Amino acid sequence: MAEFDLVIRNGTVATAADVFSADVGVSGGRIAALGSSLGKGREEIDARGKLVLPGGIDSHVHIAQVSSIGIPTADDFLSGSRSAAAGGTTTLIPFAAQHRGQSLRKVVEDYHGQAEGKAIVDYAFHLIISDPSPEVLGQELPALIRDGYTSFKIYLTYDMLKLSDRETLEVLSLARREGALVMIHAENHDVIAFLTERLLATGHTAPKFHATAHAALAEREATHRAISLAELIDVPVLIVHVSGREAIDQIAWARNRGLKIYAETCPQYLFLTEDDLDQPGIEGARCMCSPPPRDKANQEFVWRGLETGVFDVFSSDHAPYRMDATGKLHAGPNPTFKKIGNGVPGIEVRLPLLFSEGVRTGRMDLTRFVALTSTTAAKLYGLYPRKGTIAVGSDADIAIWDPELPVTIRQENMHDAMDYTPYEGRKVTGWPVTTISRGEVIWRDGAVTGAAGRGRFLPCELSAAARPRGKLPINFDPTSGRLVTPS
Ligand code: URP
Ligand code: ZN
Ligand code: ZN
Repeated sequence: MAEFDLVIRNGTVATAADVFSADVGVSGGRIAALGSSLGKGREEIDARGKLVLPGGIDSHVHIAQVSSIGIPTADDFLSGSRSAAAGGTTTLIPFAAQHRGQSLRKVVEDYHGQAEGKAIVDYAFHLIISDPSPEVLGQELPALIRDGYTSFKIYLTYDMLKLSDRETLEVLSLARREGALVMIHAENHDVIAFLTERLLATGHTAPKFHATAHAALAEREATHRAISLAELIDVPVLIVHVSGREAIDQIAWARNRGLKIYAETCPQYLFLTEDDLDQPGIEGARCMCSPPPRDKANQEFVWRGLETGVFDVFSSDHAPYRMDATGKLHAGPNPTFKKIGNGVPGIEVRLPLLFSEGVRTGRMDLTRFVALTSTTAAKLYGLYPRKGTIAVGSDADIAIWDPELPVTIRQENMHDAMDYTPYEGRKVTGWPVTTISRGEVIWRDGAVTGAAGRGRFLPCELSAAARPRGKLPINFDPTSGRLVTPS
């Protein structure tokens, strides 16, 4: 009689805290035992020479989403989660994105309809709030938070998404009251609009001018403003997709001030630069995202931020728009940069890129890699310890890595629905050879084996990370209605 459903033997297990040799016993989809010489499993996997890591959590992906200017992502929940499985990711947190005028509850129902029957891996949802009306803030959002949608993204830019500072304060106040975590896309809208108009008026229309229009200064200012607004309300926030030094400096400043500010960065800020937007014709559109990739010096700052703890999470910001009329080129074959869809794909390559260039080069150890790509996202978004670790009782979401496997990234080998990867031809070493979700093998030896629809929705708990600091040194006490000055 087998003692376990599955035993993974002889591997090197890594969590965000430790690296150790152990067998992993799995029963009923959960980790049942960690130890040496565990009893028999109905299925056994020999992981000698391999790394046994928590499955990745990609906590910033756009799937089955229609952008604010009406462009649909290429990936639905089937192709997006197929790509996740093939890249060692076992949990996705995409967005249920509200367009202005829409009921948030209805938006959430629609996204559930998109995911059901398709998702191969488990998923939660962040919300995108573009219309913080009294009804949304007064009724829909508090009820949704209680139903397990405990984080939401707001934008300080994009015509159809941006919130004013006043609206931002209202959203932050609600988040503080309800214990939710707010993610902020921090770029100064008016700076970008001003620069864009001047650039276009002077004939600077090519993709490379997207990087000029989305100046680092615009990101710096909005990051500082987001932090200041959060300080006023005394609520933690997470700054998403930080691109370089200017924003990093603001985050470091806030942390030195004792504020609870979390930060995320993405592969495009380590592996692309603004020069990748400067290609013949329209080709640079492949690497256009917001904020844009910066220069080599900024890449180095992002690396250092990953190593030293400035960044809490490393997500893909997978925003898959094909290089055709369904995606990037929705406005015609030769559009100005303003009319090109923003975003790059990255679900499948997120982990191997960071492993290869981060862990193998000695920039970070395995525990930091696991924290950045899985554990901290689970903690921030209320999924821990069910997800994000290898511990008795946790879901058996595991990626078994061959740390020596050489892979050349090619779109033809990707499992998403895209027609390009910005990392075409890049060589990496190390790739997940087996991905396991709740004890079931969903990716093995180059084949996705998980069935469409097996992925489950994960309601998120309120996260301790979203709790206010509880002291209000220079800001507003919402209970007394007084401004509080430091003693
Ligand atoms: O360019 C990007 N990042 N597009 C996706 C939407 C967003 O703001 O994250
Ligand atoms: Zn964004
Ligand atoms: Zn995004």
